[in-house]
This record gives sequence, structure tokens and C-alpha cells, in this order.
Amino acid sequence: MSESRTSSRLGGLRDYKLLAEQDQTVVWHPYTQMQEYAQREPIIMERGQGPYLYDVRRRRFLDAYGSMWCNVWGHNQPDLVNAIQDQAARLCHTSLFTVSHVPAIDLAVQLTEAIKEDFRYAGEPPSLNHVFYSDNGSTAVEVAMKMALQYQNQVGRISRTQFLTFHYGYHGDTFGAMSASSIDTFRRKFAPSLFECQNADYPMQIEEGERPDSLRSTELALEALIAGKADKLAAVVIEPVIQAAAGMRPLAEDYLGKIKKYCREYDILLISDEVFTGFCRTGPLIASSAELVEPDILCLGKGITGGMLPMGVTVASDKVYDAFKGEWSDMKQFLHGHTYSGNPLACAVALRNLELVAEHKLKENVRARAREFHYILRRKFAEHPRVGQIRQRGLAIGIPIKDADGQEVSDYESRDDAMKVCLRAIDNARVLLRPLGNIITVCPPLSIEREQVDEIVNAIDEGLKALDEGDASPGGKVPKKKGKRAAEQG
Ligand SMILES: Cc1ncc(COP(=O)(O)O)c(C=O)c1O
Repeated sequence: MSESRTSSRLGGLRDYKLLAEQDQTVVWHPYTQMQEYAQREPIIMERGQGPYLYDVRRRRFLDAYGSMWCNVWGHNQPDLVNAIQDQAARLCHTSLFTVSHVPAIDLAVQLTEAIKEDFRYAGEPPSLNHVFYSDNGSTAVEVAMKMALQYQNQVGRISRTQFLTFHYGYHGDTFGAMSASSIDTFRRKFAPSLFECQNADYPMQIEEGERPDSLRSTELALEALIAGKADKLAAVVIEPVIQAAAGMRPLAEDYLGKIKKYCREYDILLISDEVFTGFCRTGPLIASSAELVEPDILCLGKGITGGMLPMGVTVASDKVYDAFKGEWSDMKQFLHGHTYSGNPLACAVALRNLELVAEHKLKENVRARAREFHYILRRKFAEHPRVGQIRQRGLAIGIPIKDADGQEVSDYESRDDAMKVCLRAIDNARVLLRPLGNIITVCPPLSIEREQVDEIVNAIDEGLKALDEGDASPGGKVPKKKGKRAAEQG
């Protein structure tokens, strides 16, 4: 690449116009309509500190979507940066295919201890003792699904080749994870190449303590489905506690326990996809521990490294792990691996992240901030004609935006109103929010303070004004600023 294309600077600042043009034409952004993206001035980040990101134009943005739901401690938390730097000075990468390394061992030991501690009241001796590393949340799920299939094959149940999954579930973008997912928009174009899963209802609980009326019939339908297909099912795959990508749909309380009961009865493995909920997003380290439901296989990603480096982890129970033991000639070894599985830098930062959870009482902070959000959001928006019933578990919040007729539109493709609200919040309040369909998702760094709760709620309030005034249409131009914001640096 020529020097002029990469190093153009104006007074110490990168040339914004050049960067923007390159960003809009060379970088292909995920889940983004690039034609639309090219019509707005892109926000190009240069550094981060705490819950804030700073762009190349020295503007400050509050990261209320936690950089795609993974940020735990804010940006560039010094202990985590040190952990990466220390490890980088020692060893950046070696693979786990032939040898091992210290951070992979330390993290596996500490993580399984922490998981056991979380499940200590679950009733059975905790058995999630075996850590398999991969690169991201999708691969953590992909690994779990392959593990379940190979397990069933190796214990002699060769007809068990299918999965039971849930309506509106999302487990990632690789082919197995996509097959287990059921958000139509994400899968439709690939559907002919995906394998079929048995789909059950995921009963959504709106307010805590309120049981959906239809819960009993949903339970009966689930049991009938499991009983009817038991000899075909390898595993149930579920997002426990809350479905994230479906727009933050909380699961009815106690339902997870029912699922586990049926899994035990019919000898089906339970795979908990805690890529989103794990690492305190909903309060506990492992969300399903709040319901005392220990899965056979647990998937982690996103927050495991504090949101600093990519990593996926699949933790297997003794029962699963033991089925993979044998002589080489038995060919029972798990047939999966990635070049960067268990990368030492990612392991080192994940280990420090785990220590910080206890040192800084992260769970307490999540609970306190979650209570504040719960109270303030309802106080402010309960009567708002364009705000639907707010969904929340911990610091995972979904705010449905109603259409002009007061209806909640739930499909992913109709996102115009929520998009208007988010764009206005970004442009006028400098708070980064993201819509999923017509639901605004709020998933800030878990270490945020009360001040940022107010900042986010005020930004949503500001964003909602766009619906009255009809400005800030998706793809519209950035509105002019009234003056320089005090919070900005530069
Ligand atoms: C529950 C769940 N599983 C899996 C994934 C996929 O993770 P990744 O984007 O790291 O591949 C996500 C991502 O949002 C998720 O929410």
C-alpha cells in the first residue's frame, strides 16, 4: 500500500476525509448495508478509556452497546492491558496441538473453579471440569455441537444426530451455529445449506415474577417434542435466562430447570450458550447458575477476555469428556481444533479478567446499575407512546420502539424507528446505541457507574425526539452541532 494512502496526517490527526473514504469502500462492515453506510460520515475510533471511545476527530462517545456486548471493564483497563503486555513480552502464540503453555493451564484451572463456585448450590457435584478453547462465540457453540454429536456416537447412540433448539434463538454465524439459530432474517439466504433442528417455544417473561399464561402448555409441548424425538436428539441448545439477538427476550423463570429435567429423563445433553450471558452480563458469572441448572456443556465468549481479545471457550462435564478417552486406534479423540485455540495473550487477559471480577465486586456493580436502569427507564418511559414493554436481565436491556399506531413491530427488518432513535442518540448525545429490528439494545460495559446510567437514559430520551420531529432518518446526514461539547477532548 502506498504511503500516501495510509499515513496522511493533518496537524497530528489522521486525515479524516481519506480515512472515511477508505473505510466506506475498503472495509466491509459486519451486518451493515454498505451502500447506506457510505451515506453517513463514519465514526472512526482511535482510542478508548473507561466506558468511552474517542474518535479521530477527538469526539467522545459513551459505549452503551459494549462494543457488541462484550465489554466488561470499559476500554483499556490498565490491569488487562498489563496482562496482555506481560504475556506478549514472554510468548505471543504457540498452539495447543502439540504442546501446552502456562496461561492456558492457569485459565482452565481458575475458570473451572469459578464455575464450580457459581454452581455450588445446584444439587449435584459440579462437573464442568474440562476446557476446550476456540476463537469466538460462534466457534464455542460449534465446538459444543460437534462434541455432543461425537459423544452420542461414542456412547453407542448413533441415531442421536439432531438438536432441539428454540424459536428466536441465535448462536452465531458459522454453519452449525446458524443451523441451531432461528432468526429467519439471518438464516434465510443460507437455509438450503443448513441442517434441520427441532424447534421449541422459548416462553418470554416480561416482568420478573410474572409467569406467562401459556407456560404450562409450552412445557407440555416441550416434553411431548422431547419424548417423541428422544432417540434422535443429541442435545438441547439454549440461550439460558435471555435471548440476546432476538431483542433481549428473557426466559420465563424456572423453565430452564424443566428443560434440564427432560434432558436427564431422556438422556439428552444440555448445551448452555452463555456467550452473551456469561461473565456477569445478567449478574452471576454464569447466568444459569441463578436457576441452579448446570449444563453438560457450557459455551462462553464475548466477556471472557473482558472484551479485550477474541476467545471462545467450551466447558465440558466429566460425563462428556470421559466418552472421548481411549487408545489412538479407537479414534475417540475430539476431532476439532483451530490454529489460535487457546492463544496465550487471550488466555492471559481472560485470567486477569476473572481475577478482577472478584477483586472489584463486579456482580454487585451489575446488580446496582441494573436496579437503577430498571427504575429510571420505567419512571421515564412507562407512559411514553412510542416505548413498549422494556425487557431486562442485569445489564442486558431491550427497549421496543412502537410504531406511530402504538404497535410493537417485532421483525428484524423493520428497524426504521429504532434506528432513528439510535442515530439521534449518537449524533446529539454521543451515546452509542444499536437497534435490533425495532428494539434498542443497551449492553454497556459492566463496570459503568451511576453517571453513565443517567447519560444513557438521557440519550434515549433525546433519541426519541427524532420520532416526533421525523429527522435523523437512517442514512441521513449528521445533524449540525450547536457548539463544541464540554466532554470532548482535543
Ligand atoms: C448467545 C450468543 N451465542 C453466540 C454468539 C456468537 O458470538 P460471536 O459473535 O463471538 O461469534 C452470540 C453473539 O452475539 C450470542 O449472542
